[in-house]
Amino acid sequence: MGVAAAVVGAGVGWLAKPTPGPAPTATATATETATATITTTAKPAEAPVLEIYHWWTSGGEKAAIDALVKVFNQKYPEIAVLQSPVAGGAGYVMKAAMKSLVLAGEAPDAFQMHAGYEGKPYFDGGYLDPITDVWTQQGFEAVIPKVVQDMVKFGGDYYAVPVNIHRPNVVWYNKALLDKIGADPATLTTWDALTAACDKLVAAGTAHPVSLGDSGKWAATHALEQIMAGEGIDFYQDYVNGKLTSATDPKLLDALNIFKKYLGYVNPDHATLTWDEATARVIKGDAAFNVMGDWANGEFLVAKKVYGKDYGTFPPPGTAGVYGLVIDCFQHPKGVKHPENSRKWLTVVGSKDGQDAFNPLKGSISARTDANVSKYGPYQTAAIADFKAAKNMYPSVVHGSGAPEAFTAKLDDIMSAFVNTKDVTAAATAFTDAIKAASADYTTVWKLV
Ligand code: GAL
Repeated sequence: MGVAAAVVGAGVGWLAKPTPGPAPTATATATETATATITTTAKPAEAPVLEIYHWWTSGGEKAAIDALVKVFNQKYPEIAVLQSPVAGGAGYVMKAAMKSLVLAGEAPDAFQMHAGYEGKPYFDGGYLDPITDVWTQQGFEAVIPKVVQDMVKFGGDYYAVPVNIHRPNVVWYNKALLDKIGADPATLTTWDALTAACDKLVAAGTAHPVSLGDSGKWAATHALEQIMAGEGIDFYQDYVNGKLTSATDPKLLDALNIFKKYLGYVNPDHATLTWDEATARVIKGDAAFNVMGDWANGEFLVAKKVYGKDYGTFPPPGTAGVYGLVIDCFQHPKGVKHPENSRKWLTVVGSKDGQDAFNPLKGSISARTDANVSKYGPYQTAAIADFKAAKNMYPSVVHGSGAPEAFTAKLDDIMSAFVNTKDVTAAATAFTDAIKAASADYTTVWKLV
């Protein structure tokens, strides 16, 4: 059960080893200059400022990060938190912007990043400080599961602190619409049953029962990933270990064919919608189903919908008892303007209070085993139990954890082309070619079974 990751060999990153740059300046703002003048030690004073980047801009996401910042400010009222939210779900805009900032020596004090492969180019390029001492001081190892620990370590040291565990393999449904066609969600355990329910919904007047918002492309890839997870954990393990290299692999072809059928029930304006606009269609009853990670729960909560009464969830067919992993983290970039405040931020990110303020609004579960479960609503209470009972776990590729960037950078374009052409053979070829081309970068050996 769970995930074990062993890192082998050295990866080839997109960041070259940096040449040492000038020491960071401490006089970027008036506040900083003023603080510096009253300091008597040799060390330049650190301004009471913390600058963080993230992509949490939807209703639920914003509520969650604001709650985390509030906990930080209760502890450190003197530090002004400057949030730089970059709109674009799954970080499809921010990830590229962050690379440029880091390469330019302008990394913020901390930024949202996924566990696993996503941090590796930064680590390989020497752009992160190890934070094993923060982990030790805060006692994180005693409360953060091993599966998560392994995903935020590089070369034996910790390089990130997780704030949550999101589950990607969730189907969100509108209960009134399913009641209308007399469908029991507990019976929707195969794609055939699910598409049969879609046919009934269409006949009953819901023209597009499945909502998709892939304006950033990734949401389509996200749906396919969950279909692939339903093809079996051995298959998925081969996928994340770079071994899915045959364009005639029957499970890959099956997954693409299921996805093709699925797309037949999707709203035609999908390419103009964001992920949360697609979730809103289910909230409003314009669509019955949305395959999305459990950040969607934050949107249902903002809309004041009641789990079990207005909406519900079930695992995408084939993934019952299996827990996908999307883990948001923050890290300590090298040479940041406010290194002490960055460390303070990391302590709050990993704290029980911080996680129990953030996650109930975010839809995720705490990355800590000592979470105060009474603060979580019914969806997350069930997710906490599912996580504990999971027979297998798997790292999300579309959310950066499970495969190297040399592959993930091509993935969304491959799937976006498929969404337009529905050409299974072409997609399977492009998909497996991209894995083969990235073969040197598969440095983690995932053990999912
Ligand atoms: C994921 C991220 C989540 C959520 C989602 C949509 O990549 O891990 O926290 O924000 O994107 O933006």
